[in-house]
Amino acid sequence: MKHVITPLDLSVEEIDDILALAKDIMKHPEQYAHACEGKKLATCFYEPSTRTRLSFEAAMLNLGGRTLGFHSADSSSASKGESVADTIRIISCYADICAMRHPKEGAPYVASQFSRIPVINAGDGGHNHPTQTLTDLLTISELKGRLDNLTIGLCGDLKFGRTVHSLINAMVRYPNVRFVLISPDELRIPAYLREETLDAKGIPYKEVSRLDEVMPELDILYMTRVQKERFFNEEDYIRLKDSFILTRKKLDAAKDDMYILHPLPRVNEISVDVDDDPRAAYFRQAQFGVYARMALILTLLGLTGKEN
Ligand code: CP
Repeated sequence: MKHVITPLDLSVEEIDDILALAKDIMKHPEQYAHACEGKKLATCFYEPSTRTRLSFEAAMLNLGGRTLGFHSADSSSASKGESVADTIRIISCYADICAMRHPKEGAPYVASQFSRIPVINAGDGGHNHPTQTLTDLLTISELKGRLDNLTIGLCGDLKFGRTVHSLINAMVRYPNVRFVLISPDELRIPAYLREETLDAKGIPYKEVSRLDEVMPELDILYMTRVQKERFFNEEDYIRLKDSFILTRKKLDAAKDDMYILHPLPRVNEISVDVDDDPRAAYFRQAQFGVYARMALILTLLGLTGKEN
């Protein structure tokens, strides 16, 4: 039984297989419509979500399975003090696979230690978000036709941004990938990621504080929200929240085939006048998330054939 807590729980070969499966599902959805009949997905969300929870649920429904779960700590017995360990012991009696989001880093890992069913981390605090990464990889692979030989700009809150941390961990395993890290000083990537991943593996990167000066270099621009919920101090949030606002005008300096990704939700960091630009890929990215999660559910349940 396999759990997916960080992207590193999947080898490059496993990721490539999941992406290939997701692409096959996109082409032949009808062939997978019954693949999970009789199976149940539990979505245990201790923190708000629109895309991740609903795309997991849509993924399981598209596969012919069923879903159950809770959408907030307040609506579960966590509000009475039940531990994550006890909760997953119980969920293991009711479902075949579980997607868990939690505000505390490491909570889905703890769950995996007590679980009798596969646990998927659906986002833990500022740590990791591996299924967003599968979504991002599928999006990049579909739009650019490759996952290697890319210059990827990561812009915004790189300190608390779990989608950024997971994407870096995944992309460093593909050849000739270079990162441009664009953030205010206070929101630079954590030291452990810089030292233990980028420096240790000799990955080329630079850290800058202005988006416009690097725009022409980028193949992918991955925008992120400054996350109010991760700040201890409202003053700091207000000072930093509008550090980067991408507008249509700023895109004049970008390559014609650069794509803009964002895990969403956005607040102000991408102006709505960008939405009609053919390079704006963030709504397509959210759609790809359903296929990526369908492929992951099938893989973790050992149901990758079409005739299950
Ligand atoms: N991308 C993402 O995790 O969005 P939600 O918070 O809406 O799930």
